[in-house]
Amino acid sequence: MISNPVIDAMMNRRSIRKYREEQPSDEVIETIVRAGQQAPFAMQMGSVLLSREIEQNVFRAPLLFTICVDVYRMERVMEMRGWKRKASDIFTLLFGIQDAAYMAENMVIAAESLELGSCYIGAAPFMSKKIRELYELPDRILPLVMLTMGYPSEEPPVRPRYPIDFHLFEGKYTHFSDDAVSEAAEEMDSGYLRQNYYREANFMIPLTEGTEETFDFDNYSWTEHISRKLGLWGGDPDELLRNLELCGFDIERTAGSEG
Ligand SMILES: Cc1cc2nc3c(=O)[nH]c(=O)nc-3n(C[C@H](O)[C@H](O)[C@H](O)COP(=O)(O)O)c2cc1C
Repeated sequence: MISNPVIDAMMNRRSIRKYREEQPSDEVIETIVRAGQQAPFAMQMGSVLLSREIEQNVFRAPLLFTICVDVYRMERVMEMRGWKRKASDIFTLLFGIQDAAYMAENMVIAAESLELGSCYIGAAPFMSKKIRELYELPDRILPLVMLTMGYPSEEPPVRPRYPIDFHLFEGKYTHFSDDAVSEAAEEMDSGYLRQNYYREANFMIPLTEGTEETFDFDNYSWTEHISRKLGLWGGDPDELLRNLELCGFDIERTAGSEG
């Protein structure tokens, strides 16, 4: 595969969960957020909240960004122009999530190029109430994902990925044979086992009470972990819907306030 500084930064990136205390300069932060702003957008519906409260930040990271879907700002622009929203919230959210996510990932790559590390934290939608209060958010802003950032104080290895033909489908999608699934799973699992990932983290998702554990750190790996995540967890859908509502979104309505 081709190598250049941008590709190398992407290929060598890994999530960083331990940080030095040193605060990145204002110039570094501004550069990272400007690079985020410059991501492709549908309607510029991404916003970034920042906390430099190292003691309170996840992983004691010097920077904690919370990336939000921001429909409020778009609607203020429309309001000033005398427009009311007709679009449904499922529509605005689907586009807003993309705007916010592409912005976040541009920030990750920009940070990487400046020798900062980062790690996404997916819990933001479950923490909407706290985040709304902390940042005094108006309605129509949904906290999507948090992003810890700072200068790394750990050097984890680059984590494995599926083989490319498990991700790329030209012309038509592949309906995977059992062998193909096993091969791809083996690539992920052997990679994580070689890196001692779960042993070092000392963590296996516990099975439900009464189910006998048959795995140990010699064979518990990524596919078992992710299967347990989706098979046992997944969050309360009613809580997520309540949080959407709390943030001023109503995905069950087919059209906007005038609809
Ligand atoms: C939406 C999203 C949510 C994530 N949430 C967490 C999290 O809560 N805690 C964590 O330690 N890592 C989290 N991660 C980081 C992933 O675990 C990590 O990207 C993945 O294991 C691949 O490792 P790599 O980034 O080092 O390549 C999240 C990543 C994404 C994209």
